[in-house]
Amino acid sequence: MVELKSVGVVGGGQMGSGIAQLAAMYGLDVHLIDTDPVALSSATKSISASIQRFVSKGQISQAAATDALGRLHCTSNLEELCSSDFIIEAIVESEDVKKKLFINLDKIAKSTAILASNTSSISITRLASATSRPQQVIGMHFMNPPPIMKLVEIVRGADTSDNTFYATKALAERFGKIVICSQDYSGFIVNRILMPMINEAFHALYTGVATKEDIDTGMKLGTNHPMGPLELADFIGLDVCLSIMRVLHAGLGDSKYSPCPLLVQYVDAGRLGKKRGIGVYDYRKLKNHFNE
Ligand code: NAI
Repeated sequence: MVELKSVGVVGGGQMGSGIAQLAAMYGLDVHLIDTDPVALSSATKSISASIQRFVSKGQISQAAATDALGRLHCTSNLEELCSSDFIIEAIVESEDVKKKLFINLDKIAKSTAILASNTSSISITRLASATSRPQQVIGMHFMNPPPIMKLVEIVRGADTSDNTFYATKALAERFGKIVICSQDYSGFIVNRILMPMINEAFHALYTGVATKEDIDTGMKLGTNHPMGPLELADFIGLDVCLSIMRVLHAGLGDSKYSPCPLLVQYVDAGRLGKKRGIGVYDYRKLKNHFNE
């Protein structure tokens, strides 16, 4: 297996910035790409603050933090990925948009590069079919936030080669992650099970079964989950949750995966969760409340 030296990450949102941080902290040269310069500048700030927290907790030295930041290059120019050994896509959860990106990456990336997707639910086989190298395309699904969560779910498309699989597994393990493998079915393992639960929590709220606080407290204390499902949905992003439910619904063809109307309405209203300051909960109020 060829030794990986440089990684490209496309999409500098919650997930892409965390993945880029991990790669930089584990000694790889990283190019982080986002079309939105505002997203790039907030990614740079959040990565640097997060690395600094590792220093404050004594988990890495200040010198290691400085080195990691020195290995990170943020840009809007996709062509800078021409020398990356491994590219991980973490852009918006839309099959059409991701396919367009894979077509471009296939043209830009060197012939040996592996193209991975952090998709939560979209078919890896279909993304791979947009490229001329389906054997080098794979799902590498990190959990949120990537620097902290221990799991990486690896998804092989119909044509993914053993070499691609073992290189991806080795990279996840280099990052200190535990790997699970899923077949290429909508939602894979984690979101196939998690998203219907979150959707059901929205139905419980929508139909007036209980308040949002009681739904979350019920699931936290009643099932020992660290976060309630509505709080978790806000953390993931309600737009991401809705996109995943739509992929499950279209891919598995059962009405039980139909997105709850309340989830749809929140997304229509721009209530996307914590990243926008408001979702099921209003974080602007919570912040003001705590600052008082
Ligand atoms: P996000 O909305 O925080 O970030 C997406 C970023 O991609 C934005 O900064 C946007 O400007 C950028 N972008 C969009 N189109 C682009 C393009 N063509 N080229 C370059 N940049 C582009 O989204 P988030 O939450 O980081 O999710 C990204 C991916 O990771 C999605 O596929 C999602 O399903 C998956 N994922 C999300 C998790 C979560 O908890 N939010 C967990 C695991 C996977």
